[in-house]
Amino acid sequence: MRALLLLLPLLTAPIAAAQDSPRYETRTEHDPNGIGKFYMGREIAHVMGHQAAGWLERPERETEERTDLLVDAMQLKAGESVADIGAGSGYFSWRMAQAVTPTGKVFAVDIQQEMLDLLHRNMGRRGVSNVTPTLGTTTDPKLPVESIDTMLLVDVYHEFDEPYEMLKAMVAALKKGGRIVLVEFRAEDPKVNIKRVHKMSVEQARKEFEVFPSLRWKETLNVLPQQHIMIFTKH
Ligand SMILES: C[S@@+](CC[C@H](N)C(=O)[O-])C[C@H]1O[C@@H](n2cnc3c(N)ncnc32)[C@H](O)[C@@H]1O
Repeated sequence: MRALLLLLPLLTAPIAAAQDSPRYETRTEHDPNGIGKFYMGREIAHVMGHQAAGWLERPERETEERTDLLVDAMQLKAGESVADIGAGSGYFSWRMAQAVTPTGKVFAVDIQQEMLDLLHRNMGRRGVSNVTPTLGTTTDPKLPVESIDTMLLVDVYHEFDEPYEMLKAMVAALKKGGRIVLVEFRAEDPKVNIKRVHKMSVEQARKEFEVFPSLRWKETLNVLPQQHIMIFTKH
């Protein structure tokens, strides 16, 4: 009995250490385009400021990124509840709103009120009424529990300040059987001329998403010229 008691601290020590190990690491030497904070070996990028919103709406974007193919690949259905996480100026929000109309809706989530103000004006200009601008935080998209069929993240996940907490809250807002469509520039491809911290590999994305037991990688579609479309479903 005494021997067992002496052993107990040894048996519990690794578990305690694992629980105490910090989720994020800060490094002083890092990529200037990143914030010096690392998650699962990946450096987190700076958030794109609202001052650069014009770049999201550049006319050549459709041909450069084939955004039309992305919307088609999602195969949205009328009546779906969709969330555009990190919606920016709403480039994808109104395109998805058209695909789910008349009964479906889009929650356009962003952490910058200035982006949401711009998005609101853009929706008004286009006469789109089924997009709801939603102010989230870096850890919470502020969406109702188990309410969303499809979440789209285009060029945003890599700039989440708190990716673990944010993804946890997103999973809670997804319906069972719902999906996350993650779109990121291909890190595996040196010809994709985008700053390193703004790209992601499928391997890294799967590592970070599959931390959540209810999320499963379904498939990766490589129909776009520069980006992966990675689909994860909630079970
Ligand atoms: C590069 S822009 C992409 C905008 C849009 N998805 C597009 O492709 O046109 C990234 C946007 O994500 C937003 N963002 C960053 N972190 C966020 C978070 N945790 N939750 C919601 N939005 C976030 C930024 O404010 C910015 O508007």
